Amino acid sequence: MNIVFLNGNYMPIQEAKISPLDRGFLFGDGIYEVIPVYSDITVALMYHINRMNDGFKAIGLKVNWSENQWEALCKKLIEKNGGGTLGIYLQVSRGADTNRAHGFPSNVEPTMFAMTFAIPIPKTPNLETAKSFALKSIEDLRWKRCQIKSTALLGNVLHFQESHDAGAQEALLYNNKQQLTEASAANVFVIKNGVIATPLISNQILPGITRRLVIDIVANYGTSAVEERIVTMKEVNDADEIWITSSTKGLMPVTQLDDKPVGSGKVGQVWLEVATLYFKYKLSY
Ligand code: PDD
Repeated sequence: MNIVFLNGNYMPIQEAKISPLDRGFLFGDGIYEVIPVYSDITVALMYHINRMNDGFKAIGLKVNWSENQWEALCKKLIEKNGGGTLGIYLQVSRGADTNRAHGFPSNVEPTMFAMTFAIPIPKTPNLETAKSFALKSIEDLRWKRCQIKSTALLGNVLHFQESHDAGAQEALLYNNKQQLTEASAANVFVIKNGVIATPLISNQILPGITRRLVIDIVANYGTSAVEERIVTMKEVNDADEIWITSSTKGLMPVTQLDDKPVGSGKVGQVWLEVATLYFKYKLSY
């Protein structure tokens, strides 16, 4: 595998040898991963490696790295970039051919691109000071393979921008049956009368790692299990609380949807309880 690094002193971009004929550039023909790091330690690295391997398999990309190789790469990136709190970005494309052709090339080495970037330092969850999100609901017009963490993110980018153009910070997406799918760069949870629900894993959503962790944490330490099922837009609009989850944002409350308050319009009590459990989990990692 050809590896290209970016960041810090590790290897400046000028030295990066990425061909303009790389299929990552030409076709978005690749898989990526974002792994959060707190106090120098990756969170749930194995889940991220497994999801990457699922992605490679789904697009017929042969990458036979062992867990140890991925772990060593992440360790090196953390060390060379000052450690602490950061995000690791890994991307593997099918590689660079000598011309532009849609079919998979033969005898081409995959290209890996790796960098780190800043993510917010986790703070003790607090009802008064929590940052909350305003979402805009938009029909999900992406493709039917949203479970693949593909570098081809134009559909997500357009939805994200549409929400920003409308004055919101994220898009809450629903399918043509008026069922919640996810956000453009996060998963979504809906809470009513203390019951937490989130859409089932399917080809309509990315199987988020933070989503998985929140479900596991609630099952282990919470008072009731998260329901993984179809969530209708009627439920979304009637919700007491809405949350979004991602590796970079963590678990964030949503207090506005389509310019209307969610529930009381304030950050909710259930969020506080689960976010506190998630915060402790991250620190104990
Ligand atoms: N995005 N759904 C989509 C479409 C996403 O892009 C993401 C994450 C998630 C949440 O997945 P996870 O909890 O594993 O981060 C759900 C990343 C952070 C990104 O593209 O930057």
